[in-house]
Amino acid sequence: MWVVGLVGSPRKGMNTDSLVSQALSGARAQGAEVEKIYLSDLSIRPCGACEKRPPTGYCVFRDGMEEVYRVLEGADALVIGTPAYYGTVSGQLKLMIDRCNCLGEVVKGPDGGVSFRTRIAKRKRALFIWVADSSRDPSCALHVMRLWGKDANVELVDTLIVTGADRGTPARKRPELLKRAYELGAKLVAEFQEL
Ligand SMILES: Cc1cc2nc3c(=O)[nH]c(=O)nc-3n(C[C@H](O)[C@H](O)[C@H](O)COP(=O)(O)O)c2cc1C
Repeated sequence: MWVVGLVGSPRKGMNTDSLVSQALSGARAQGAEVEKIYLSDLSIRPCGACEKRPPTGYCVFRDGMEEVYRVLEGADALVIGTPAYYGTVSGQLKLMIDRCNCLGEVVKGPDGGVSFRTRIAKRKRALFIWVADSSRDPSCALHVMRLWGKDANVELVDTLIVTGADRGTPARKRPELLKRAYELGAKLVAEFQEL
């Protein structure tokens, strides 16, 4: 099983990154191969809303998204972590999300009706980690992630919602949070093996 962590924070070693790492450690302990990608290391252009379909690939742009498309095609599960930025996901994660608009398509059925389908064949399970300081309500971020999941063929099976991340002991140093992330990463793999 191949589990990929996507880190939406530009701050390596900080709250989001630490929690994603813990979840990946839990997944590895269950026998998964794991990989971590920092979205801020990939050069991802904003979606141009061109509505063009290139002869090969998903998007007319050729940039850091090639790496993400490879993951969406091949991974069995994802750990997606983002800090709360203005109550939702980070810009780094949103750039990636917008570039997945080309993964969904509307198809005509034999009866002339239309339906939606994703061009990504593999269904993936995902753990979503949202790290906020003063914000308390993750609903905006969760709504974005669920909409994206339809295009990218990703189901959010678990969430770890962290609030007050920078108050007192920072989230990345709280043993109970790190343990919870580890357990959820392990669960992602254990449940997959039961399917
Ligand atoms: C541009 C920006 C916007 C932010 N917006 C929010 C916000 O709306 N709500 C909140 O609770 N924290 C907000 N924060 C704080 C971060 O979510 C918080 O510091 C988090 O712990 C950062 O995660 P990291 O350590 O993984 O980078 C914002 C930080 C930045 C840089």
